Amino acid sequence: MSQTTAQILLDSNRTIAEISPLLFGGFAEHMGRCVYEGIYEPKSKHADRDGLRTDVLDALRAQKYTTVRYPGGNFLSGYNWLDGVGPKEQRPRRRELAWQSLETNQFGTNEFMGFCQAIDAAPMLGVNMGTGAIQAACDLVDYCNTPSGTYYADLRASHGYAAPHQVKYWCVGNEMDGPWQMGHLEAREYGAKAREAAKLMRWMDPSIQTILCGSSNDRMPTYPEWDRVALEEAWEHMDYLSMHYYAGNRENDTPSFLASAVVFEHFVDTLDGVLRYVKAKNRSKHDVYLSWDEWQVWYKGDPMQGNWTEAPHLCEETYNLEDALVVAQWLNVFLRKSHVLKIACVAQIVNVISWLNTRGDEMLKQTSFYPFMLVSNHARGQALDVLVRAPQVATKLYDAVPVLDVSASYDPATGKEAIFIVNRSLTDSVVTDLLWQDGRAVTMSEAWQLAGSDPKAANTWEHPNAITAKPLAAPAVKDGKATIQLPPLSFTVLTTHSA
Ligand code: AHR
Repeated sequence: MSQTTAQILLDSNRTIAEISPLLFGGFAEHMGRCVYEGIYEPKSKHADRDGLRTDVLDALRAQKYTTVRYPGGNFLSGYNWLDGVGPKEQRPRRRELAWQSLETNQFGTNEFMGFCQAIDAAPMLGVNMGTGAIQAACDLVDYCNTPSGTYYADLRASHGYAAPHQVKYWCVGNEMDGPWQMGHLEAREYGAKAREAAKLMRWMDPSIQTILCGSSNDRMPTYPEWDRVALEEAWEHMDYLSMHYYAGNRENDTPSFLASAVVFEHFVDTLDGVLRYVKAKNRSKHDVYLSWDEWQVWYKGDPMQGNWTEAPHLCEETYNLEDALVVAQWLNVFLRKSHVLKIACVAQIVNVISWLNTRGDEMLKQTSFYPFMLVSNHARGQALDVLVRAPQVATKLYDAVPVLDVSASYDPATGKEAIFIVNRSLTDSVVTDLLWQDGRAVTMSEAWQLAGSDPKAANTWEHPNAITAKPLAAPAVKDGKATIQLPPLSFTVLTTHSA
């Protein structure tokens, strides 16, 4: 193993923006075993009286999800929300076309609200803009948010939910740019439909916030034109533009994969530019922010269709150390782009493309469970504009990138700071000086590290703790400086406090 050196310069006055708590959101779709056998499994020995799996709830609580987006995904574009409310024995079983599965509708909007309460997360609901009508979208807002005295509010009460659910965040469709989407539309058609839907939904409840479908990824032939056109149509009625992106290492080019932050930043920067352009073009005073409401590593090729079965095994990825380091970088990018990125939802929270898996009554936390948990628990207050002086690592896809990928947060209210550092080198440990430039008297609080020598190392049912976040002896701070040796292929979290 070789060794290099680096410096990380921190200054609590050099801030980017307030970190939106909603950056630590998740996504739960009626797909595979995310809802059924993941969240909801009445026959499990872990089930509570509502059929929710308490072991999964505990894991999700530990990850401190702030919001959960539901019910899809591609599923959303064929979903009639009325199928999922009311007495369970009367709910229809249907062929679900997006994932070619059988949907029992035993879990629906009200069960989802109970789930969100159980993990203390804000619900983010989607309305169907594929096969669905604007009226149905508006009716769902009525059902969820009107206190009483309308047909749908009273229907909700008759289903056992007298108090309104007060759903604030609403996705107006899902990936409507994709030809795979049920009811796919062209950008201008979608922008106009989404505008009218959001307009009526906001007339129904002016307190809601709405999310417009952006491009499904940056490889779409219509990207970023789709975003521009849809935004031009719907700008004044939207609060966020959605981004989706799944990363992967298909070519087994680990140095490039470990530089994925370059792609993530570029995607945000381009859409940030589109937002500014449309705001100017529309002569608007209104702001629209970004909602990265599907993100994850996904490429290993598990089946995507369910042969008309209930809760089929779909897209159950295995995550290794390099995947976890990409997730850690993604979270760093969220902080570094916090001026424009206000919502993010990992896709998905359990079983489907997820770092959390169930098997019968067992549960497995995969490698990338830990970076999310560490960042969501510690990133608070302001994102800091950190200066990094580090050697460069060569990559095939993105030229050279700094060996360290870093972000930091500082909360002036508590004096707590957190520093998140990925060492993306496969070979070099990096002796890193942390230098506080603002004269704060800093004391190190805690340190954790996730690391390993094999980028392909994964947690398995037989060896569930091969790669976890382990506590470290925190380096001492003296005269505004601390030194830490960061091993290759590692993610390190340091927390400090100051008076
Ligand atoms: O998260 C899985 C799928 O990926 C979602 O249903 C869809 O929106 C995306 O293509």
